[in-house]
Amino acid sequence: MGEARTRYLRNAWYAAAWSDEIGRTQLARTFLDEPVVLFRETDDTPVALADRCPHRFAPLSEGALVGDAIQCPYHGLRFGSDGACIHNYHGPVPKAASVRRYPLMERYGVTWIWMGDAEQAHEDRLPDFGGFYGNERFAVARGYLHVKGNYQLAVDNLLDLTHAQFLHPALGNPDSSEHVTFKMKSDSSTVWASYFFDGEPVTPFKKMVWDSPSETCDRAADMRWEAPSNLYLEVATTECGQPRDENALLIPSTHFLTPETGKTAHYFWMNARNCRIDDEKLTEMFRESTDKAFRHEDEPMIALVQERMGDNDFDSLNPVFLTTDRAAGKARQILTKLIDAEHGATVSEPEMSA
Ligand code: FES
Ligand SMILES: [Fe+2]
Repeated sequence: MGEARTRYLRNAWYAAAWSDEIGRTQLARTFLDEPVVLFRETDDTPVALADRCPHRFAPLSEGALVGDAIQCPYHGLRFGSDGACIHNYHGPVPKAASVRRYPLMERYGVTWIWMGDAEQAHEDRLPDFGGFYGNERFAVARGYLHVKGNYQLAVDNLLDLTHAQFLHPALGNPDSSEHVTFKMKSDSSTVWASYFFDGEPVTPFKKMVWDSPSETCDRAADMRWEAPSNLYLEVATTECGQPRDENALLIPSTHFLTPETGKTAHYFWMNARNCRIDDEKLTEMFRESTDKAFRHEDEPMIALVQERMGDNDFDSLNPVFLTTDRAAGKARQILTKLIDAEHGATVSEPEMSA
């Protein structure tokens, strides 16, 4: 069969769906090149099973739920929510017939799937992405985007916010590269990248939400990447020279990327704000403008990059390294190391600097 498959970090929680997308109707979705069917048992427990019948490989998602079980649409084999075959209309239940069940957990309104060794699927292995979620000081908007590019290209995009000046003319400041300073640090599974835009002009977009007559502001954008591909960003705007206290305008967001295939990804995002939180029109405007930027500016660029890369491996194309790539480069390095460790690879690693 053959084509070289993308190597993924398997022992990790990946965002699979918004929890309210999963119900008593089967949801078919591919993660890490594996087709999965998601549904809820009659008591609401979410279930994820391999979406390929072990008989003649029909998609179970096209079948029917029968109580807590799912029935194959082709010859009717029925599988319990643990993945074991429990009914065969045509004879005894074949002992070998079962489909894989993947561990799930629900947090932050998201259902997370574990594609690796089920024994290791501990809930505390999902890093903390709390902060604004469920916090009454924030109003939250959310969205989903199907990305026609490798998930790491989407992570690169988020870890290098300098693209905003060019790709998001309505949101970014045209001369932000003159204002920015950058700091980063990392550990074995996390990269923190902070951008400080001191004394930058207040954009028309910000004027709509920031309760200040000032024409200039200080803006800090703190991005945290957690392996394999989930990010938390907090953007804080303050009066020039003022600390980030309770008067700061905070716009935090989460960015959960899940590989679908080697060349496509699922992108679940949420953003929030701590101003005018009861203004639902403003929440809708935030949702729309974020969706518009991701859908019409970031995603098409990522898709074009993927197209230009073709089947080439990222490193084999010798990408030019700019100082602004330090965070993205570090994240790629950490992830490669984690994937190698999981696959028991013995290849030598480039030295990791602090
Ligand atoms: S393919 Fe599923 S029962 Fe035959
Ligand atoms: Fe962007």
